[in-house]
Amino acid sequence: MDLIPAPRSAARTSDTATFALGQGTVLAAGEGAEGVARWLRAEIGAATGLPLAPADPAAADAADAADAPAPTGGPGADGVIRLTVDPALALAGRPAGAAGAEAYRLEIGPGGVRLTGGGPAGVFWGAQTLRQLLGPQAYRTAPLGERTWELPHCRVEDAPRFGWRGFMLDVSRHFLTKREVLRHLDLMAAHKLNVLHFHLTDDQGWRIEIKRHPKLTEDASWRPRTKVGHRASDIWDERPHGGFYTQDDLREIVAYAAARHITVVPEIDIPGHSQAAIHAYPWLGNTDVVDTAALDVWGDWGVSENVLAPTEEVLRFYEGVFEEVLDIFPAGIAEYSAFVHVGGDECPKHQWKSSPAAQARIRELGLADEDELQSWFIRHFDRWLADRGRRLIGWDEILEGGLADGATVSSWRGYAGGIAAARAGHDVVMCPEQQVYLNYRESGAPDEPVPIAQVRTLEDVYRFEPVPPQLEGPAAEHVIGTQANVWSEVLESPQRFDYQVYPRLAAFAEVAWSALPPSAERDFAGFSARMEEHYARLDALGVDYRPPGGPRPWQRRPGVLGRPIEGPPPIV
Ligand code: ACM
Repeated sequence: MDLIPAPRSAARTSDTATFALGQGTVLAAGEGAEGVARWLRAEIGAATGLPLAPADPAAADAADAADAPAPTGGPGADGVIRLTVDPALALAGRPAGAAGAEAYRLEIGPGGVRLTGGGPAGVFWGAQTLRQLLGPQAYRTAPLGERTWELPHCRVEDAPRFGWRGFMLDVSRHFLTKREVLRHLDLMAAHKLNVLHFHLTDDQGWRIEIKRHPKLTEDASWRPRTKVGHRASDIWDERPHGGFYTQDDLREIVAYAAARHITVVPEIDIPGHSQAAIHAYPWLGNTDVVDTAALDVWGDWGVSENVLAPTEEVLRFYEGVFEEVLDIFPAGIAEYSAFVHVGGDECPKHQWKSSPAAQARIRELGLADEDELQSWFIRHFDRWLADRGRRLIGWDEILEGGLADGATVSSWRGYAGGIAAARAGHDVVMCPEQQVYLNYRESGAPDEPVPIAQVRTLEDVYRFEPVPPQLEGPAAEHVIGTQANVWSEVLESPQRFDYQVYPRLAAFAEVAWSALPPSAERDFAGFSARMEEHYARLDALGVDYRPPGGPRPWQRRPGVLGRPIEGPPPIV
């Protein structure tokens, strides 16, 4: 049946029999499944042109119990798609470490479809499987013409391996419009991914409206010019680049994601990666050692030296930012919606070392050094967020100088940070750059566009194992999931994002969802065979993915400098 990600079990219950959808097929949604019914009607209804009219689930049950013959003509004549939430399924299907509410069972037979989820999310993931079974044309937004839509008689039982199945989108280095973000959410849903880590601020642009600090969008959301290619390139694009999401845009994105059982985890990066904010409000920077008023929103790449000053005023400023962030991204709407990402990565300490004010602050706070000053920043917001019922997550540098009590770690420099954090009892999202940074080049061929770092092929991503052998028992349980990240320095257009992300995100989705064997035993040939059908789905969705044979001519970027690194990436 060529499903991606592979389900726990799937079997045809007849070699040839199918259930055909028709004008009279109805959709009967039980309590808790109404949202999935709306999604199915909108998406499958659009692709097939079928009304999928709502039906009363109690009446469908009564007809079943009475073994009544299907009516002829009219609603229900072409069978019923029945959506049910059954918490008992959650308990029965609950795999260790993953949310049982995401489990589902899909049964297709002569009378139609029975889709049961442990919770609404399970019904939703089952609906994604149903769409795959309808064939690639079910991914279009309008029907191509008259045809029949058939589903094989089958039974699928499924549940995710990991609870947190994430994708990080960097919209700071290159902005994506709201429409594009919504499209990525649809693509995530199609791959059963459920956390969008939204990298909203960085040296090169601030993308979230903060009403009490309007210059963050007026001044920090755009840069006058942009380096084209790797930072060693001498080509500049002299066109301004920018964009931001209003609070209403972001609320819309959050609601759109929630309807797809995806949590949006916003990232506001502190105390490094803050040059755009410092450009807007120069007093946020280390004014005793740099003329922060002269700083631009950075148009170059790398790690800016311009970091936040460790003052009370800066803390108050960011508390104000986070107050608005908490309001836009409310807790309680999904499993991971309490999380707020505070960055914490790549904070150069040179300015703090040379700043008399920062040094005085270190002494005043009784801290040992600049690493502890970084921890002081993060600990402050760990407590501040916890006081508001929220959870802090940060990149693994937040381990340096001591990990804040409630912190969860995004382990990106390798496994080591995640291993240390998990052993210390902290939750971890594994996203090692050597494995799942999708900005890394996908092939060693010379026509790869702006090649960055080591080669990470589709197969490499497929063989990625989120739980390293050093972690066992309760420590391994702290790996709440995994995430693939795409940084956008050299991704100047939505097509370039697509090229870097797909098809590798499909392989990653299988790693995050499916119960795969150890890396070396994974059936990459089988996955590749299933990808044939999946490429047709991506075609129908209009995704500008990297074809298996390499870039199409217009996907190449001759003359734009990358930074390829030879050899396999070190596993750390
Ligand atoms: C990162 O790649 N700086 C988290």
